[in-house]
Amino acid sequence: MGDVAQDETSFYSNAEGYWRDVSPTVDGMLGGYGSISNIDINGSKAFLHKFLGEGDGKTGTGCALDCGAGIGRITKRLLLPLFHTVDLVDVTQEFLDKAKTYLEEDSKRVGNYFCSGLQDFVPESGRYDVIWIQWVIGHLTDEHLVDFLRRCQEALRPNGLIIIKDNMSYEGVVPDEVDSSVCRELPIVRSLVSRAGLRIIHEEQQMDFPKEIYQVHTLALR
Ligand SMILES: C[S@@+](CC[C@H](N)C(=O)[O-])C[C@H]1O[C@@H](n2cnc3c(N)ncnc32)[C@H](O)[C@@H]1O
Repeated sequence: MGDVAQDETSFYSNAEGYWRDVSPTVDGMLGGYGSISNIDINGSKAFLHKFLGEGDGKTGTGCALDCGAGIGRITKRLLLPLFHTVDLVDVTQEFLDKAKTYLEEDSKRVGNYFCSGLQDFVPESGRYDVIWIQWVIGHLTDEHLVDFLRRCQEALRPNGLIIIKDNMSYEGVVPDEVDSSVCRELPIVRSLVSRAGLRIIHEEQQMDFPKEIYQVHTLALR
């Protein structure tokens, strides 16, 4: 990790402070890039469909966990249409409060709203078919990310999957002092995944995003 994380306490508390001031909207979740949400969700749908279904080795559709869920942008358009039950976890209580109305009728199928940092969160053992972790890994230190991924593995059902979808830097670790996060290059993310004892079973780059933003990659792990 870069210097930013040397003071771990302020790395986390600065991020919490940053998100507390962000408006609970799709645009807020995407740092002003609300317009890319459709492309993002459609790409994720196509990615996930490769694994879901009946039959040998297929991932079930009982329960999903949305990590760093915010107001539930992904829960609403990707996870609730595909899974019977969805749990949300986020460090910002205001976003989870907003999710209750943002998800409308389908909020009935939300199992739990957990207000917690992922660095402290222990997902229930054996509960989830899919654990979706998008645009939030940069808020965890290397150690916390590895430990969280290990706990996620424990929380999977048979044939379950952990999905990481996130920004990847072109080289090294790039700190963002504004939201108190880091952006890691893909080889570093892969090595943290492997340190967690997980295997990458599929990897894709999200296409058709604006040129000026980081490249976004999706990794399926188990
Ligand atoms: C860029 S937004 C992405 C939200 C959502 N994943 C999406 O794609 O619409 C980052 C989210 O991570 C949350 N967050 C930041 N640090 C976190 C942490 N340590 N643990 C859990 N959530 C965190 C923020 O509150 C915010 O909702």
